[in-house]
Amino acid sequence: MILSIILAYLMGSIPTAVWYGRIFHGIDVREHGSGNAGATNSLRTLGKKAGIIVLIVDFLKGFLAVKAAGLFMSDITQYLYLLMGLAVIMGHIFPIFAQFKGGKGVATSMGVLVATFPWAALGCFLVFLVIVLATKYVSLGSILGGLAFPIQLMFNLWNDNADNYAIGFAWVVFLILTIMHRQNISRLINGTENKFGAKK
Ligand code: G3P
Repeated sequence: MILSIILAYLMGSIPTAVWYGRIFHGIDVREHGSGNAGATNSLRTLGKKAGIIVLIVDFLKGFLAVKAAGLFMSDITQYLYLLMGLAVIMGHIFPIFAQFKGGKGVATSMGVLVATFPWAALGCFLVFLVIVLATKYVSLGSILGGLAFPIQLMFNLWNDNADNYAIGFAWVVFLILTIMHRQNISRLINGTENKFGAKK
């Protein structure tokens, strides 16, 4: 069990945005734009192709870490899935391969959600999409999309029948995303947050 959690953390630790920026553009994306090693900042500072690739790889880290557990362990419980989900998200945020300074965990969390609660993941994505289209704030979409996760499970919107552990996990994911977006929240309040599509 401990080994699978460590492996999930190591998988999350693959710093896609940092390595992509260094290899293909010769820069550290963390020194540009919002300073975040994620898909939005890669799109902002490195371009569309980088943004899409980082998004896909970061998503797959979360998705595969949880799915792989099911393939290799026959007696896996739902709790281990959730713990591995948390481990891969924490790896993305605090990557051992990039001085523990990674992204905010949105794409990787989405991968974990699709692997564990696909319908709730769809609900989160729809909330994210509506907010981003309406406001152009990716950060606000990420926070409110994250909030939609525990709410959907609590109200059993998709017949997921999530137990208290899963609901607790969903609140923890939302809390992590909110904490990681604390600077975005200050900027949203000041009216200085970056809008989607705006270069910095
Ligand atoms: O996925 C992170 C996003 O919600 C905000 O990114 O670079 O604008 O802080 P950024």
